[in-house]
Order: sequence, then C-alpha cells, then structure tokens
Amino acid sequence: MEDLKRRAREALQNSYAPYSGFRVAAAVRDERGKVYTGVNVENGSYGLTQCAERSAICTAIGEGATEIHEVVVYTPTSEPSTPCGACRQVISEFARNATVLSFCDSESEVLTNSADLIPKAFSLNGNKS
Ligand code: THU
Repeated sequence: MEDLKRRAREALQNSYAPYSGFRVAAAVRDERGKVYTGVNVENGSYGLTQCAERSAICTAIGEGATEIHEVVVYTPTSEPSTPCGACRQVISEFARNATVLSFCDSESEVLTNSADLIPKAFSLNGNKS
C-alpha cells in the first residue's frame, strides 16, 4: 500500500478543483500489479465533475485492466475522505473484492473493502430483459 500512497500523493498536483477547492487523488492496482492514478477534474458545469476514484479506475480499464485489487484515496486534509456513492458503485463493478484505503495528512485512515462500502450494490447480472 505504501507505493500506492506515494503515487496518490504525487498525483494530487494534477487535481483540477477550482470550484470546490477540495483536491482528491486516487491510485489503484490491477490484477497484473500495474498502478494507475487519477484526480478529481471539475467543470464549470458542476455536474460534469469527475471524481478521482473514477478517473483512476477508468484509466485502468482503458489500459486493459480487468480487475482492481486495491484502491487508495488521498486528500490533503486532517480527516480521510471515503469514496462517494457514485464511486462506490463503480468500485463494485471493477473492484469487486478490493481493499480500499483512504488517507490524509494526519495519522487518521479508513481501511475498508468494496463489500462494506456498498452492500447490495446494483448489478445487471440476471436482470437483463
Ligand atoms: N470527489 C472525489 O474526487 N471523490 C469522491 O469520492 C468524492 C468527491 C471530488 C469531487 C469534487 O471535485 C470534490 O471532491 C468536492 O466534492
């Protein structure tokens, strides 16, 4: 996890958050051991904002990852920030059994996993008409 934490810290410089001022970076590791990072990318049309976790996961999938095993979220704050609901849903699709760590600039961390973040997640499995 230490390498993912370092990568997330490094990625934070690319966060684009001029509207909220809340910068977020994420790093994920896939089934091949490859690491990908992402940051939040806001937009003047606020609803188009992309979260850091989804940025990282979408990059990983676009680069050929099929399963994410670890997700790390970094905020330069005094308390860690856990993924929002939309990101939890995306994590449930691509990081089904992942460890998820949120850390910040204090010792405080939240270590959890996909199932605990979004129990009974929506899934199309068995529901296609
Ligand atoms: N944000 C993330 O990047 N990840 C989350 O899980 C929650 C929120 C971003 C979106 C927006 O740019 C800023 O944090 C404030 O909501």
